[in-house]
Amino acid sequence: MHIAIIGTGYVGLVTGACFSEFGVSVTCVDRDTSKIDMLKSGKIPFYEPGLEELVSRNVRQGRLSFTTDLGPAVADSLVVFVAVGTPPRGDGSADLRYVDAVAREIAGHLTSYKVIVTKSTVPVGTGERVRAIIAEHRAEATDFDIVSNPEFLREGAAIEDFMRPNRVVIGARSQQAVAILKDLYRPLYLIETPVVVTDIETAELIKYASNSFLAVKISFINELSRLCEEVGADVKTVAKGMGLDGRIGGKFLHAGAGFGGSCFPKDTRALLQIASSRNVRLGIVEAAVSANERQITLMAEKVFGVMGADLTGKTLAVLGLSFKPNTDDIREAPAIAIISALRAAGANIRTYDPVAMDNAKAVLPDAAYCEDAYSACAGADAVVIVTEWNQFRNLDLQRLKSALKAPFFFDFRNIYEPEKVRAHGFTYCSVGRR
Ligand SMILES: NC(=O)c1ccc[n+]([C@@H]2O[C@H](COP(=O)([O-])OP(=O)(O)OC[C@H]3O[C@@H](n4cnc5c(N)ncnc54)[C@H](O)[C@@H]3O)[C@@H](O)[C@H]2O)c1
Repeated sequence: MHIAIIGTGYVGLVTGACFSEFGVSVTCVDRDTSKIDMLKSGKIPFYEPGLEELVSRNVRQGRLSFTTDLGPAVADSLVVFVAVGTPPRGDGSADLRYVDAVAREIAGHLTSYKVIVTKSTVPVGTGERVRAIIAEHRAEATDFDIVSNPEFLREGAAIEDFMRPNRVVIGARSQQAVAILKDLYRPLYLIETPVVVTDIETAELIKYASNSFLAVKISFINELSRLCEEVGADVKTVAKGMGLDGRIGGKFLHAGAGFGGSCFPKDTRALLQIASSRNVRLGIVEAAVSANERQITLMAEKVFGVMGADLTGKTLAVLGLSFKPNTDDIREAPAIAIISALRAAGANIRTYDPVAMDNAKAVLPDAAYCEDAYSACAGADAVVIVTEWNQFRNLDLQRLKSALKAPFFFDFRNIYEPEKVRAHGFTYCSVGRR
């Protein structure tokens, strides 16, 4: 089978590379010429563990190619995935301009039956919207079907998530389209991946509901961490005690600096917009969004509480910039908001992140970018851990202390044991622990 993926970002490239690994012939399309040139020269435009090898192997074996030319890629394919961005508009709703543009372009190249699959995260009703655009703009009266196949991969573990997903969701009206998608996903069927077949609207909503539920879980434990601080309880143990209950589960129950990234902040707000446009109030999701905004603000306030609200002349070493480990994605990363608040209070910032520094330089041009955690701490008045990269979990505390000018240690991901850090003479501050 030959397929095309329109939009070769995180989702499009991982999807394309993984399907080609399944033996399918894949053309990845993007309108960004520099991205396609980079891919053609064997480079990956972003950091994702294992992706470079996967891409280069499948390119070498002739199953994966890249182009900016949508027409031939669509004409040659039975299935066309749409994986372009759906960024938030000012009111939080998803901006569908890229999806619409791609639908129009696909329509112009529809010369035989195709299955058009939305992989981008899109509001309920987008499948029908794409159907209407294609029906209106198609060059010939060719038959086509629309499918919603939302993507659940996590950046940093994207290949594993695509190859071994918890489920595949297929929303469609046409049984023929469902059969084609099931055939495409056959390698996952063989490892007994559950496949949820439903209508398009339900599939579209499953994606927003899943991300919003996970965001609620994170905000729940973050709010609880504030109570823990007041009553002298330990949020890590509270979360452990809760998470061992099979009905609750321990995942996404880690108190910290708040959620960020390209999905949770955007998808929760988009779900709220979808609901309010239908006069439905989703109070729990609303609360999760505002608890998260508060949580991120609270991190800078923790620093002010210990070091004072005027940080003029102080230097802070911030470790971790990406919104989570194993990615260079800094979209809505808590680190960016926290650094901005510290800068506004007068602080100078020295920082280190294993892979996200190039991306951060564009939004935080006046921070000093360092070689590693220890050089970031050299001469600084405090160390602030914002992203829990593995390499920050076991720092040499003695070396860190000697590098710093003052012994302030802010651990906003609760990766250290308070007693151990304090035993080295640090003033230690974490989230939801005494
Ligand atoms: N990043 C994630 O972890 C993740 C996970 C699940 C779902 N999603 C969803 O998947 C979608 C894509 O997200 P992403 O992170 O991969 O975005 P991205 O910004 O990394 O990639 C989108 C790509 O689409 C390209 N594009 C835009 N318009 C185009 C056009 N007309 N023709 C060809 N290419 C075009 C852009 O140049 C870009 O390379 C979003 O809806 C997102 O919510 C993302």
